[in-house]
Amino acid sequence: MHDQTDRHTTLLDQRYGNQEKPQNLVWNPVVEIQLAHKSVRTFLPEALPEGALETMVAAAQSASTGSALHQWSVITVTDGALKQRISDTIARTVPTDRIPWIEEAPTLLLWVADLSRSAAITRERGAEPVVHDYLDAFLMATVDTSLAAQNAALAAESMGLGIVFLGVVRNAAQEIAEFVGLPPHTFFTFGMAVGHPDQSRQSVPRPRPPQSVMLHENRYDSEGFKAKLDSYEDAYRAFREGQNMRPRSWQDAVHESATSMAYMSGRADLRDMVTARGLTLR
Ligand SMILES: Cc1cc2nc3c(=O)[nH]c(=O)nc-3n(C[C@H](O)[C@H](O)[C@H](O)COP(=O)(O)O)c2cc1C
Repeated sequence: MHDQTDRHTTLLDQRYGNQEKPQNLVWNPVVEIQLAHKSVRTFLPEALPEGALETMVAAAQSASTGSALHQWSVITVTDGALKQRISDTIARTVPTDRIPWIEEAPTLLLWVADLSRSAAITRERGAEPVVHDYLDAFLMATVDTSLAAQNAALAAESMGLGIVFLGVVRNAAQEIAEFVGLPPHTFFTFGMAVGHPDQSRQSVPRPRPPQSVMLHENRYDSEGFKAKLDSYEDAYRAFREGQNMRPRSWQDAVHESATSMAYMSGRADLRDMVTARGLTLR
């Protein structure tokens, strides 16, 4: 009982640092795994355990799916040479020579917003999938993919595996689409590296802002978050110091992400890429 309470206290301390913490969580094994989440970027070379991928995909398929249309796919990249090629291609879009967590992870998953099956079924009946021309169709598939991937991530973490989402796949989306033969009416939402965490090189969970920043009651509060920024900066600074990361404020990071086109790293023309893949986003 004491051990459990200590574990819960540690999880909340890591998630919120010295900020205000929720007091009345309903703990269970799923919630414990969710609160212990951290992106893993250092992997052991061992393959995934037998059945792990199938379990992740079953969990992914069990997520809610808009109108029960199942508009997502996932490609598991098991060919080492292909994985290296994908990693090298992405590395050319960012200021680094290599992306070790893609190279090291035994499995790379490419999560695909996928309207191609719906399009094929529709065309087989002699009709055009005109609804796919709208932004909402793209968003529906993207949301489906995200929910599926997060379910898979949680399943992986429940098996003691680690994951990191890889938005950088979109930096080179068109090239990687050609490598893996992605059909029209599909688009990469993100990748995901999966494997056994190398426990000798692990980070700790990253702090989040207090709940009141994200949780609004009945009416959106546009100003409330400002009073919480200093305490979040403290938690963010403590996390970075603990990880020997260079000092940097969270608001500086936000500002840079909103103003630096370098941050886009090849994604500035995403609309053109998506359109070229047959999704017109009107
Ligand atoms: C959609 C999405 C894309 C991401 N892309 C990358 C990425 O390309 N490279 C990376 O190292 N981390 C990536 N991440 C991981 C985030 O950096 C990470 O989730 C965030 O810093 C919070 O840290 P935590 O996951 O350890 O809590 C991505 C996360 C999400 C949700």
